[in-house]
Amino acid sequence: MTAFPNILVTGAGGKTGRHVIAALLARGARVRAWVRRPEQTASWPQDRVSRVAGDLMAPDLWTRALAGVDAIYHIPPNMFPDEEALGELAIASAERAGVRRFVYHSVLHPQVEAMPHHWHKMRVEERLIASSLTYTILQPTAYMQNLAAAWPGIRDEGVLRQPYTPDARISLVDLGDVAEVAARALLEPGHAYAIYELAGTPPLSQHEIAALFSQALGRAIRAERLDRDVWAARASGLSDDARDALLKMFAYYDRHGLTGNPHVLRWLLGRAPGSLARFVARLVASKPGD
Ligand SMILES: NC(=O)c1ccc[n+]([C@@H]2O[C@H](COP(=O)([O-])OP(=O)(O)OC[C@H]3O[C@@H](n4cnc5c(N)ncnc54)[C@H](OP(=O)(O)O)[C@@H]3O)[C@@H](O)[C@H]2O)c1
Repeated sequence: MTAFPNILVTGAGGKTGRHVIAALLARGARVRAWVRRPEQTASWPQDRVSRVAGDLMAPDLWTRALAGVDAIYHIPPNMFPDEEALGELAIASAERAGVRRFVYHSVLHPQVEAMPHHWHKMRVEERLIASSLTYTILQPTAYMQNLAAAWPGIRDEGVLRQPYTPDARISLVDLGDVAEVAARALLEPGHAYAIYELAGTPPLSQHEIAALFSQALGRAIRAERLDRDVWAARASGLSDDARDALLKMFAYYDRHGLTGNPHVLRWLLGRAPGSLARFVARLVASKPGD
């Protein structure tokens, strides 16, 4: 028997979910992973990770998913247009099931109404704060791991292309650090009713990020704006809602960037957050398919 609680992780098959489950397993926790497709749990040890598979918007699945669960880590799917309705469903279901701890994976600066996917999270935070649950809210900035999308252009053409101005200053965070904080918030005492902004770096322009790639690769890398039409052609698989939300995010980044401060993350981790230089070194050393 483990002394750890049973933890439900939603959005478990995605980029964030996989990091959070790895961090929980590393600490000996037992996890129930909510994935959309059953095969998404294949790589996890079956004796430690149980599975719920299906649509997060299905109320009856919530009742089953929360049976015997002490804590929930709620990761809404990326650019999910029903995020507020999903938040309501998650919170109301957790209240009914008597879940002891609710940790919500939000985003840095949910207060920004100009970015719909941030604003939806603000509304969910508001609902959670007014709930009967013991909650913790994590507000990570953009992940360093997002740079993987730009890596082929950096490697093959020497250009870091983003669909916003290269002058945009954005704080980044290593998803591994976010997952470590998630595990702490779920497994350790002291995080009730806390809201934590999670940034691993100060705001960095895309030119500064390109300079780190130049150092790591030993050749010049420059930052450029990715033409919006080229971006739109590559993003043809996105829903209209997701495309609209992303275009609004790029327009916001053009004007304001996304500026955070690493102090809170350093305090939570008890060490320096993972640096962008270290992340870049890992990306440069990675093989296709890593
Ligand atoms: N990326 C960042 O820099 C960043 C920073 C801060 C916060 N966040 C937030 O982190 C959250 C997770 O992002 P992510 O990048 O980890 O997302 P992701 O990789 O797209 O993962 C989302 C997961 O949710 C699943 N899913 C989608 N719709 C579903 C539904 N209706 N029912 C059940 N499962 C469903 C997806 O299934 P499939 O695999 O089948 O598609 C996927 O496995 C988002 O809310 C995002 O706003 C992201």
